[in-house]
Amino acid sequence: MANITVLQLRAEAIAALTAASDQVALDIWRVEYLGRKGKLTGVLRGLAELSIEERKALGAASNALKSELEAAYDARSDELRGAALAASIETGRIDVTLPARPQRRGGLHPVTQTLRMMLDAFRSMGFSIIEGPEVELDYYNFEALRIPADHPARDMWDTMWVDHEIDGRRPMLLRTHTSPAQIRIMEQHEPPIRVAVPGRAYRFEATDMTHEWMMTQCEILAIDEGLNLGHMKGTLLEMMRRLFGRERKIRLNCSYFPFVEPGAEVAVDCFVCGGAGCAACHHSGWIEMLGAGMVHPEILENMGIDSKRYTGFAAGMGVERLAQQIFGVDDIRTFYQNDLRMLQQV
Ligand code: PHE
Repeated sequence: MANITVLQLRAEAIAALTAASDQVALDIWRVEYLGRKGKLTGVLRGLAELSIEERKALGAASNALKSELEAAYDARSDELRGAALAASIETGRIDVTLPARPQRRGGLHPVTQTLRMMLDAFRSMGFSIIEGPEVELDYYNFEALRIPADHPARDMWDTMWVDHEIDGRRPMLLRTHTSPAQIRIMEQHEPPIRVAVPGRAYRFEATDMTHEWMMTQCEILAIDEGLNLGHMKGTLLEMMRRLFGRERKIRLNCSYFPFVEPGAEVAVDCFVCGGAGCAACHHSGWIEMLGAGMVHPEILENMGIDSKRYTGFAAGMGVERLAQQIFGVDDIRTFYQNDLRMLQQV
């Protein structure tokens, strides 16, 4: 009679355990069958009322059942945990064979890339990099560079004025070149001086394939004892070779800028055709790149630098012009139209 109860209880408990399909159901099962007020404990409590013989038999059977159910519980619990893990691995599976989504990457603007190459070249020759203001006084942009108000050379730079008569005497403008930085540096530093000045410059002019109203320039200025035209040429040649290849040559043609004497326009031999003549160099074999010259002694003296002891050279180059050559861009205006089809090609 008593054994039948244990056998029935066993059958019932095993069936219920198999039916429990998650941890919550398992916990309920455990309380129901193995808990302090559970069914198996109830059987054990009832032993007291039985005869010694019956107690022995039933006691042994119940204890065996208890161990069996505990083991079955552990097994079922492991099984459910394993199944849950397998399910989560399956649902969270990553298909490593799927092609990756393309990453959109930004890039440096071609003018920035060109400028950085140029500055690297100057830096390696001992030049420091500094900057000057874009809104500039007439004094620095023109006057101190030997271009007084009535000087015809002012026609070389069509100017965007910010205000002709700020506080009655100091007109301001958007700098038309980076040369005003030469004066600012000479005001503040004693020779030896060796600086490169990158920055934007502005001109009030109609735009076409080779002209923009805003451009990036890079100025260099070197002042020391014994500097001559050869040093200037060597510096510019090295810069051009860094940008356009070791085999490049440069050519200096006489030119006029009021702040240098002598002044030169510097061209590089065409790296597309090697000087034979092609569309890139307008069939001349040479590409005009920059203006340069020996700093006018009068400017050195004005800045308190002894022109008997010190000489200097300066150059100013249009970075877009060089970028056009490097990247093969026909129309300078496309640099600032921000058309991604163009920018992504470089
Ligand atoms: N500042 C001149 C220009 O923009 C270029 C230049 C710089 C010429 C330095 C000579 C020396 O046209």
